[in-house]
Amino acid sequence: MIELVFATNNAHKLAEVQAVVGDTFHILTLADVGCTDDIPETGETFEANASQKSTYLHTKYGYNCFADDSGLEVKALGNEPGVYSARYSGTRDMEQNIDLLLQRLGDNMNRQARFRTVISLRIGKEAFFFDGMVEGEIGFERQGDGGFGYDPLFTPHGYHKTFAQMTAAEKNAISHRAIAVAKLAGFLRERFG
Ligand code: IMP
Repeated sequence: MIELVFATNNAHKLAEVQAVVGDTFHILTLADVGCTDDIPETGETFEANASQKSTYLHTKYGYNCFADDSGLEVKALGNEPGVYSARYSGTRDMEQNIDLLLQRLGDNMNRQARFRTVISLRIGKEAFFFDGMVEGEIGFERQGDGGFGYDPLFTPHGYHKTFAQMTAAEKNAISHRAIAVAKLAGFLRERFG
């Protein structure tokens, strides 16, 4: 079985990826390989951050690995919060991050936004990128209590409910992360399956 290290300790992300890539690949987390390093993530783009994380693991430990980076881009805010999504307000408190986003958008009628994910895969000397995006609108207030992060504000195009009002299965069928992971899985199956 092919082993790949995923630069995360997020069990939810691991389960999502393992379910999509199937049994041919065994995905290990940072904890599984005993990596407790605070991996630097100082880039200004999702690509740069994902690549920084996978390159770090590959260079330091020699693992075949992948890393992801995601965030929300709001058009009227010049694509903020982008790579700063997790700490937009200067804290990791999502209530404060959401409040700041709503405050900055105010009553602006342009509510266009998109979630993006970039995955950087390192196998041997080769590097590959996979991306996923979902477009939608930012609401004027929170709706729903499922999901995480900015989900209560985001209604994907073609739907009348936010990510936070969807079941996990509904969100996973259309999310930015699911799209990027499906591309990664397709590539791995084609190459090694
Ligand atoms: P990460 O790079 O996947 O850890 O995502 C960084 C930040 O982007 C998260 O802390 C969330 O604030 C935001 N984010 C990423 N994906 C989602 C999502 O699917 N729903 C809501 N917020 C998200």
